[in-house]
Amino acid sequence: MTNLRLACIVGARPNFMKMAPILKAFEAHRGVETVLVHTGQHYDKNLSDVFFEELDMKRPDISLEVGSGKHGQQTARVIERFEVVLENAAAEGKPFDRVLVVGDVNSTMATTIAAVKLGVPVAHVEAGLRSFDRTMPEEINRILTDAIADVLLVSDPAGMDNLRHEGHGEEEMVLVGNVMIDTLKRLLPRAQARDTLDRLGLIPGSYGLVTLHRPANVDTAETLGPLLDVLLETSKSLPLVFPIHPRTKQRIERFGFSEKLDAAKGLLLLGPAGYLDFLALSSQSKVIVTDSGGLQEESTVLGIPCLTARPNTERPITVTQGTSTLVGNNADMLRDGLTAVLDGTYKTGECPQLWDGRAAERIAEVIVGKGATYNT
Ligand code: UD1
Repeated sequence: MTNLRLACIVGARPNFMKMAPILKAFEAHRGVETVLVHTGQHYDKNLSDVFFEELDMKRPDISLEVGSGKHGQQTARVIERFEVVLENAAAEGKPFDRVLVVGDVNSTMATTIAAVKLGVPVAHVEAGLRSFDRTMPEEINRILTDAIADVLLVSDPAGMDNLRHEGHGEEEMVLVGNVMIDTLKRLLPRAQARDTLDRLGLIPGSYGLVTLHRPANVDTAETLGPLLDVLLETSKSLPLVFPIHPRTKQRIERFGFSEKLDAAKGLLLLGPAGYLDFLALSSQSKVIVTDSGGLQEESTVLGIPCLTARPNTERPITVTQGTSTLVGNNADMLRDGLTAVLDGTYKTGECPQLWDGRAAERIAEVIVGKGATYNT
């Protein structure tokens, strides 16, 4: 008999690799029913569908199909549609006991608001991360989600401190480690056995991997242009692979940068890659240049130098303990970092505590331990 019914939320690309191991971990607990809800914030095959296949993840039980839009539109659509899901479940006599959200995308925050307002408690995985930069939409999503979720599952000690400073009690938070690393550890052998590098004519350890998609980097020609210029310069001595996010692709076209990128021989432009191809690329690269939060963490675990194209990070452990260096959108700092990597003088790092591939098991234990608070 089911005695704990959970709505597990995914919406955008970085959510899938976090939720996949959590869903698996709940399978070991009898009496738990997981209902996977996909908001549809990301809907392209290569930003969404491919992950379900490659991560061996069940298909969504419920799709909200909200699609793209301005922040208000997208957030409002998720709140509106998820509220109906929760109400219908209750009306059918199968109410959700808890909602489980991951990360910091609009879908995370919007589903949390809908649930808490209907009295359904929310657990947030990846709680406590703070960049202290409120110009980032993700920072707003993190603060609001943590403020109203009642179980805060944290990936590193700095996250625990941030939550304490915001007044959260010890009983609300648990240091569970980094669940995205569970997926990395599980799939690394499979990724490296693929012919990804051969297909692209790349040699392990002798190319760089680039991803850029944050609005602060790609939304104006003044910031995107100089970043691309350094990459073009670097690509003359080190081949660079650049899987391009749809947002970045649109901006490159709009600002008229396509021609010079296409002309660069050492720059390999790809569409967004699936999880396994991407892990094959990241794990065998010489250096990573990125503004992705997840990739800062993955490069730290993989021991690959990571030049993070952001002025700050909500994941400082990847800088203090790991292999990441913040270079902002400063072309000179990026160039210096690349030179240090090529000269062999770049720092080495170590893997943070509890980024061990078993975070999902700990998360499941905590959630099951909380029981069915809503029904009782
Ligand atoms: C979102 C997250 C960001 C995360 C990123 C990973 C928020 C605020 N941002 O940013 O934290 O790092 O996902 O990719 O939630 N688009 C497509 N196909 C899709 C989805 C989007 O072409 O399937 C295009 C649309 O033009 C859309 C744009 O990408 O307007 C941005 O999509 P959106 O979901 O708003 O944010 P991301 O930039 O992807």
